[in-house]
Amino acid sequence: MSLRHFLSTQDWSRAELDALLDQAAAFKRSRAGHQLAGKSIALLFFNPSMRTRTSFELGAFQLGGHAIVLAPGKDAWPIEFEAGAVMDGDTEEHIAEVARVLGRYVDLIAVRAFPKFQDWSVDREDRVIQAFARHATVPVINMETITHPCQELAHAMALREHLGELRGRKYVLTWTYHPRPLNTAVANSALLIATRMGMDVTLLCPTPEYRLDPRYMDAAEQNARANGGSLRVSHDIASAYRGAHVVYAKSWGALPYFGRWEQEKPIRDAHRHFIVDEGKMALTDHGLFSHCLPLRRNVKATDAVMDSPACIAIDEAENRLHVQKAVMVTLAYQGRDPGPGTRDPGRG
Ligand code: CP
Repeated sequence: MSLRHFLSTQDWSRAELDALLDQAAAFKRSRAGHQLAGKSIALLFFNPSMRTRTSFELGAFQLGGHAIVLAPGKDAWPIEFEAGAVMDGDTEEHIAEVARVLGRYVDLIAVRAFPKFQDWSVDREDRVIQAFARHATVPVINMETITHPCQELAHAMALREHLGELRGRKYVLTWTYHPRPLNTAVANSALLIATRMGMDVTLLCPTPEYRLDPRYMDAAEQNARANGGSLRVSHDIASAYRGAHVVYAKSWGALPYFGRWEQEKPIRDAHRHFIVDEGKMALTDHGLFSHCLPLRRNVKATDAVMDSPACIAIDEAENRLHVQKAVMVTLAYQGRDPGPGTRDPGRG
């Protein structure tokens, strides 16, 4: 059997995603267990984190496993990813060795590696995690690169908890202002999972330049067709919000300006009014609001929205713990039963 990774939800069938969500719900009901007893995971962070690091480390611990956190270039050697590189620069070891050595120690490898924000044609290849997946002898988990599949599961889980069946619900992914151009990962992921769940999805963004990479727009359209939903792009705030059941906010930099961010800045600055506020939420159909966090209050969403009962961002953040347990256990055993005494308590 070939090695299974968790790099993108697109690699997993709808039935498999539903099974992960069911397993996560069981973990939410019963946090402690032994499903990862004797198992270990290396968490490699090329970028900062609060939720991802805490929830993975704690999730492994609560199931009897062990997590090792590494920051290559800081507390671990800087890694070379280019095949055939003459390594006379700053990198000290090659991914070919790093991935295989870690595979001799641990059962799972998880990686966070954001784009470099200089050339989208390079960043869209997702070279760091793809290299880990190519060289590793154990399953690799995406902790956010140019998509954020763990966030997708946590988001879907929170939406199901509050809305039940998601098919046919009106979902708005709204761009919001941020003083810096941010990664498109969560926006890509929001489109993928919302369309996968058969929702009627609107991508609300300031101008056509803020459309997401065609790879994700096309995948989202196919998902919508396959799951009974829809996808449209809007630049009109009022019509996008009207009747929505879910508003998900994220800021991202416009891809045509990748690496030329000083030229994008005036466009971004002109759209600060995309902030999620009470007036916009009043147009929705008692809509829920969420965000992956971290969130700059009163820049992306107002205090009133963040502190309202409609905001489920904290539920979504909590769910990271539960969905990642499901992913770790599923991958660690690759379809094999964890064995007596290690079964998920919520699944009998
Ligand atoms: N949402 C999320 O991934 O949070 P962190 O960046 O804090 O890990």
